[in-house]
Amino acid sequence: MTTLYTISLYLHSWNRWLIIIVGILSLVFALKGSINKHPYTKSDRYLSLTFIGSLHIQLLLGLFLYFIASPYTTQAMQNFGAAMKDSTLRYWAVEHSTLNVIAVIIAQIGSVLIKRETRPAKKHRKTLIWTGIAFLIILLMIPIGIMGPDRPWFRF
Ligand code: HEM
Repeated sequence: MTTLYTISLYLHSWNRWLIIIVGILSLVFALKGSINKHPYTKSDRYLSLTFIGSLHIQLLLGLFLYFIASPYTTQAMQNFGAAMKDSTLRYWAVEHSTLNVIAVIIAQIGSVLIKRETRPAKKHRKTLIWTGIAFLIILLMIPIGIMGPDRPWFRF
C-alpha cells in the first residue's frame, strides 16, 4: 500500500463512524423534537451541519480513493466492461460510489430545505425524512458484507 492510499483509506474508514454517530443523534433528536413538539434548537442545527460536513469530507476522500489511490478502481477503470463481471470491482467502481454520491446529494438537498424552513415542527420532520433516507442508503452501502465486500469495522 502506498502512504497516500493508506492515509486516505484509514481516514475514509474512521470518518464513517462520525457519520454513523452524528446521523443517529440527528435522527433521535428530530424524532424527539417531532413527538414532543420541541423548538428547533442550536444543537439540532449543529448536528445537521456536522452530518453534512462529515459527508462532504467522506465524499472528497472517496473521490480521491476512486480516481487516484485505490487499486480496485484503478483496475476497474482500465477495463470497465471486464470489471462489471467481477463482483468486488463492480462494488467499488459502481455500487458503493454511485449510491453514496446519491446519498450525499439527498442529504445536501435536505440540509438546504431544513435551513430554509422556518416552522420548528417542519424542520424536525424534514430532518427525519431527508437525513433518514440518506442515512439508510449510507448504512446499506457500508462494506460489512451485507451488499458487498466485508471490510474491517475498525482499522488500526
Ligand atoms: C458517503 C458515505 C460513504 C461511506 C460511509 C463510505 C464508507 C466506506 C468504507 C467503510 C470503506 C472501507 C474502508 C476500509 O477498508 O477500511 C470504503 C472504501 C472506499 N470507498 Fe467509500 N464511503 C462513502 C462514500 C464514498 C464515495 C462517494 C466514494 C467515491 C466516489 C467512495 C469510494 C470508496 C473507495 C474507492 C473505497 C476503497 C476501495 C479500496 O479498498 O481501495 N466512498 N468506503
